[in-house]
Amino acid sequence: MARWWVCGLLSLLAVAAAAAAAEGNAEPLIRLPTQNEHGAAAPAPAPSAEEEEVTRWAVLVAGSSGYENYRHQADVCHAYQILKRGGLKEENIVVFMYDDIAKNPANPRHGVIINHPKGKDVYAGVPKDYTGDQVTTENFFAVLMGNKTAVTGGSRKVINSKPNDHIFIYYADHGTAGSLGMPTNPWLYADDFIKVLREKHASESYSKMVIYVEACESGSMFEGIMPEDLNIYVTTAANAVESSWGTYCPGMNPPPPIEYMTCLGDLYSVSWMEDSETHNLKKETIKGQYDVVKKRTLNLNGDRSEGSHVMEYGDKTFKDEKLFRYQGFDPANANNTSSLPLSGPQGVINQRDADIFFMWKRYEQLNAGSEEKPRALKEIKETVAHRKHLDTSVDFIGKLVFGFEKGPSMLRAPRSSGQPLVDDWDCLKRMGVANMCNNGVSDAEMKEASAGVCGGYNSARWSPLVLGYSA
Ligand SMILES: *[C@@H]1O[C@H](CO)[C@@H](O)[C@H](O)[C@H]1NC(C)=O
Ligand SMILES: *[C@@H]1O[C@H](CO)[C@@H](O)[C@H](O)[C@H]1NC(C)=O
Ligand SMILES: *[C@@H]1O[C@H](CO)[C@@H](O)[C@H](O)[C@H]1NC(C)=O
Repeated sequence: MARWWVCGLLSLLAVAAAAAAAEGNAEPLIRLPTQNEHGAAAPAPAPSAEEEEVTRWAVLVAGSSGYENYRHQADVCHAYQILKRGGLKEENIVVFMYDDIAKNPANPRHGVIINHPKGKDVYAGVPKDYTGDQVTTENFFAVLMGNKTAVTGGSRKVINSKPNDHIFIYYADHGTAGSLGMPTNPWLYADDFIKVLREKHASESYSKMVIYVEACESGSMFEGIMPEDLNIYVTTAANAVESSWGTYCPGMNPPPPIEYMTCLGDLYSVSWMEDSETHNLKKETIKGQYDVVKKRTLNLNGDRSEGSHVMEYGDKTFKDEKLFRYQGFDPANANNTSSLPLSGPQGVINQRDADIFFMWKRYEQLNAGSEEKPRALKEIKETVAHRKHLDTSVDFIGKLVFGFEKGPSMLRAPRSSGQPLVDDWDCLKRMGVANMCNNGVSDAEMKEASAGVCGGYNSARWSPLVLGYSA
């Protein structure tokens, strides 16, 4: 159950953000919390005539901003390098990233981003298609649909794909039940995403698509709602109710270079990328990668998992296809059959705690007696208190609307697997807490309960934390 909290709170933050934006007084919120094939020597088969007409396209999205979220943009830059080395053309890869990491004052290697403790720079050469405020859900949809007129700003590069083409989508960020984070509002909601995928399919502008998603509760984006007849295969870092995990974090095994106070990557993401980099992708299949990534992301320590359950959705009929059809083929890996370094569990931290962790590491490194040190500590305390307040608030809202006895269990009870997170997606967008929607709580009830718990003078009566925060 603890896992629920890892990401569950994000929903409320999203609602708070949406409400603030709606009122036109958006305040800066706190950052979103939280086969190896043998016989390598055989020459690769020549592509068939049909294959030569296939263009490989990719959309890469890092949904976060802020140095404490270093890892998401590092993941996405790394993915770009893999696809580029695999022979995809720059004009066919669209990159969404906020682009505030490489030149960030907190970055110990100015202008460089790494995604592995011993990794080389993955930033150089990454096209700045959509950066900063151009990283929006709207632009992402327009790009995928190949609709240039619908794009706002950016390079205006879009997925102008043809009926035979293949599309690879990779996304990394925080997520919450039913939505994926974006550095701008609104977030990417599951029902909207699937609607766009249906439209793309109806436009007959691709033959197959593979989607990889790293985020907390990423399974909830597809569970029970992802069609199987769109020629789209999806894997997610986590199931519908659990966190996904950051890795290569300070003080963990393996750690980043000593000067880094942030996590360099995410476990599911580095698992697929390091698998792609150490295999001949004309031999490694989609299924082969799924199996390896699932095992590594589960991150077993004895019989306890310190990771998440990688899930698959959509059309599972083409999993025997070779990965090069989506990720390309790097001849330098032709003979490589390395297995991944699975020497015991890998040090990880759940996505939501990763930013507090970063703040703590920075605090530790500041000189005692420096002016900044008490300020850094205050920032940490405030962030933690805000989280606690929000957690408590969600709990109290649950108690108010469902009753004190039933509240907590009603809020957390997951729907059985195979069922969509909610039936009324508009309700989720308004309320942010799926079980409020599934149990028929009205907007008015929710508003009243929220006002009672989060705002107003009486909050002190309900909350053990008498702090001036609003949720
Ligand atoms: C592209 O987007 C514009 C603006 O949103 C819209 O009016 C138009 O119908 C779209 N074109 C296609 C082919 O979907
Ligand atoms: C892979 O092995 C083949 C056959 O031994 C060899 O010709 C080729 O140069 C090797 N490729 C690389 C990148 O090492
Ligand atoms: C395979 O890839 C790994 C990681 O990039 C590298 O260390 C190793 O030398 C490669 N092996 C071959 C045979 O190319």
